[in-house]
Order: sequence, then C-alpha cells, then structure tokens
Amino acid sequence: MSDPALAAVPSHELFSPEVAADPHPLLHRLRAESPLTWVPPLDGHLLTRHADIVAALKDRRLTTANLGQGLDRLSQAERDELAPLLKSIRLWMGHTDDDDHVRFQQLLKRYFTPATVDTLRPRVRQLTHELLDAVAGRGRMDVVKDLAYPLPANVIAEMLGMPTSEREQLQAWSRDITAVFAPADFERLVRSRDSVLEMQDYLRGLVAQRRAEPREDLLSMFVAAEREGVVDEDEIVANCVLLLFAGHETTANLIANGLVLLFDNPEQLALLKSRRELMPTAVEEMLRLDGPAGVVVRVTAEPAEVAGRQLPVGQVVYLAMLAGNRDPEVFADPDAFDITRKPNRHTAFGLGAFYCLGAALARMETDECFNVLLDRLPDIRPAYDAPDRVSTSPLNRRLATLEVAFRPTT
Ligand code: HEM
Repeated sequence: MSDPALAAVPSHELFSPEVAADPHPLLHRLRAESPLTWVPPLDGHLLTRHADIVAALKDRRLTTANLGQGLDRLSQAERDELAPLLKSIRLWMGHTDDDDHVRFQQLLKRYFTPATVDTLRPRVRQLTHELLDAVAGRGRMDVVKDLAYPLPANVIAEMLGMPTSEREQLQAWSRDITAVFAPADFERLVRSRDSVLEMQDYLRGLVAQRRAEPREDLLSMFVAAEREGVVDEDEIVANCVLLLFAGHETTANLIANGLVLLFDNPEQLALLKSRRELMPTAVEEMLRLDGPAGVVVRVTAEPAEVAGRQLPVGQVVYLAMLAGNRDPEVFADPDAFDITRKPNRHTAFGLGAFYCLGAALARMETDECFNVLLDRLPDIRPAYDAPDRVSTSPLNRRLATLEVAFRPTT
C-alpha cells in the first residue's frame, strides 16, 4: 500500500551505483527529511531514525513472520515452485513467534552465552592461525575467501557437528541462501530452494547418525530434544540451516568490512596496534559503522503506530540499522570511525525478543581474528583500488573479495 502523503525514494535512486558504493548520503537525507519513507521497489516503508528503529524492534505488533514480502510479485506457479523453500524458512526460529520462538530460545541460548562462547576462544585462535599458516608465505591473500568466510564457517560447523569435508559445500549453499533476503529475483530464489533442499537432505543424514550414536555437539542436543518431544526433524534441519547460514555469512562480512574500516582510518589502525585492549570497543564500532545486517524486516500483524504514523495490518517495514547507527541524535560525529567510542548503543544485532542469538560468538570470533591477524601480519595493507562490493542490496554490505598484501613469513 503506497501512501501518497509519504515521501518516496525512487528505484533508480536506491539502486544507483552511487548508493551501492556509499548509501550514507542518501540515508542521512532520508533520516533528516522523512522518518518514514515509502520505498516502491521494496513495497515497504523504510525507517532511518535510531529512536524509531529501537521502538519498532521492541514493538511486538510488528512481527518477523515476514515471508511473503516481495513474493506477491511472483505468479502463483512461481510461488508453488518455491513452496519447499518457504516451508523451511517458516520454521527458522527468527521467523516464529511467541511459544515456538521461546521453545527454540530455551533450547539454544545456553550454548551461546558469553561465558560458554568464551570456552571456544582457544579453538577460534587456533583455527585463525591455521588459516594464516596457509597464506603467510604468499605475501598476499583474499581476506574474504582465505579468512573471513572459512573462520566462522568452521566454528559453527564444529559446534553443530558437521564434518570438515563438507565445509566448502556449506559456504556455497549459504551464498545461495542469501537470496531469500532479496525475494524479488525468481532465478536466485530457485537456486536458494535447491540449496536449502540439498542442505536439509544432508542434515537429515547427520541427524540419523546422531540418533544412533550421540556426541557432544548441537546436533546431538537437538536429537535428545527430539526424543523428549520438544522438536521434530523438520524443525531440526530447518534451524540447523539457519544456524549454519546465520553463523557465518554475517560474521564473515563483519571481519571483511571491519578490515576495510581499519585501512580507511590508518590512525585508528595504529592506535589499535598499540593498544590491543581497545579490541572490544573497536569491534563494536565496526558493528555500528558497517554492520553486515544493514536492514531487518517487519510486518504489521496488528495496526501499529510507526514513526508517528498509524499503519494498518500487513504493512512491510524495513528497519535500516545502517542508518539508525549513524543517527546524529545518538552518536556524536556519527560517520567517524572511533575505536574508543563508549557507550555505543548500536542495533547491529537487533534488540528485544529477536536479539541475535550469536552476538557473543560473533564478537569473540572477530576479536580473536583481528588479534591474531595483527600479531602475525603487522604490516597488512590493502592491495585493491576500491572495495569489491556485492551489490544485490544497497543496505546489506558484503564484499566479494578483499585482496591484501603483507611481508611473507614462513
Ligand atoms: C538474529 C545480526 C551473527 C544467529 C539476528 C538479528 C540480527 C543479527 C540483526 C535480528 C534479526 C531481527 O530482529 O529480525 C547478526 C550479525 C552477526 C550475527 C550482525 C555477526 C556480526 C550470528 C551468529 C549466529 C547468529 C554467529 C550463530 C549462532 C542468529 C539467530 C537469530 C539471529 C539464530 C534469530 C534469533 C531469534 O529469533 O531469537 N542476528 N548476527 N547470528 N542471529 Fe545473528
């Protein structure tokens, strides 16, 4: 539903090469001029002010059960073809509400607390060293391919209990699955469906193994919960897909985007090298300035006031974290990368009931990764002209490659 009284941002502007390279001039303008903007290419409203985003994240009338958004542009036949994909994604804990959501949170949260995650720190350090061992003699690497993706992918795969041999396949599947966040592209959605089905078949095999022979991993925990009647197999495989996918796509982008921020701000890089105790606040600042989940989606399940306007049921609202996290009302000098910034009330991990399950894990992985990187490759420097961004969405910032150079070591 478009509201003629609302300011609108046209398609050619939102999807322009300038906005893909740097969305912030547009987002600053929208935040200053129209707190609620109608976005025709996305069939929804866009929120850009921090206070409105926080209020929307806390408002349970705005639901995450948002699958449908963008899909109504597809024909019925196309939607039928995508049915297995939709069935699986509907079971993801982040897309369930109330009782089902709480049931999954209770099952999983103890494995993702800061204290539990901290026990994985030595393993994350070791994995980072192994990845750097493989490239240290070369004097060059693609940070995206050689470090940022494989590190969190290996960590979440180990937590679940997925064998090493399948980890490359995991990355390929996950890349296809990102299409569910750009639901207007039918061809990509079909690939996404095929990848979800392949991944689920593979996971069903692992579930069967764990039923026969439980181990100390999340899959075995799910199988034990299945035995007690708490979850069923479809829920297990769908949520393992979610954990595997959410557990590394985002963190990989935080590591890559964070390194670009350090390269773009050499005085902050020098400060971090000399004062490593600043790593936790540096990671928060990376999350704020270029957090990988630049936008989350909600749908009004009941009439709700959003940014001062009454919206009827069924309205899609995009919460542009990327914009809210640079709101000058909340953050002094909002575009500056300041690794000492504290407090830092960004919403990069969401807020409220759907706050990111993996926030502590992502923070720890990024912290360890940068510490090892700066220890091992202190002269690391960019070997690219401009960051090589994937431009499927102007609000979710991903790098395709990130070539860097350093003094080779043995
Ligand atoms: C939810 C961001 C890493 C698993 C979320 C949400 C955001 C987010 C913004 C809330 C979505 C909403 O409100 O609709 C991020 C970022 C990460 C990251 C920026 C890395 C830098 C991870 C990791 C895991 C993970 C490592 C793996 C365990 C989840 C899950 C949810 C979620 C399961 C749904 C939580 C729920 O419904 O209660 N994430 N995430 N995320 N994230 Fe993350």
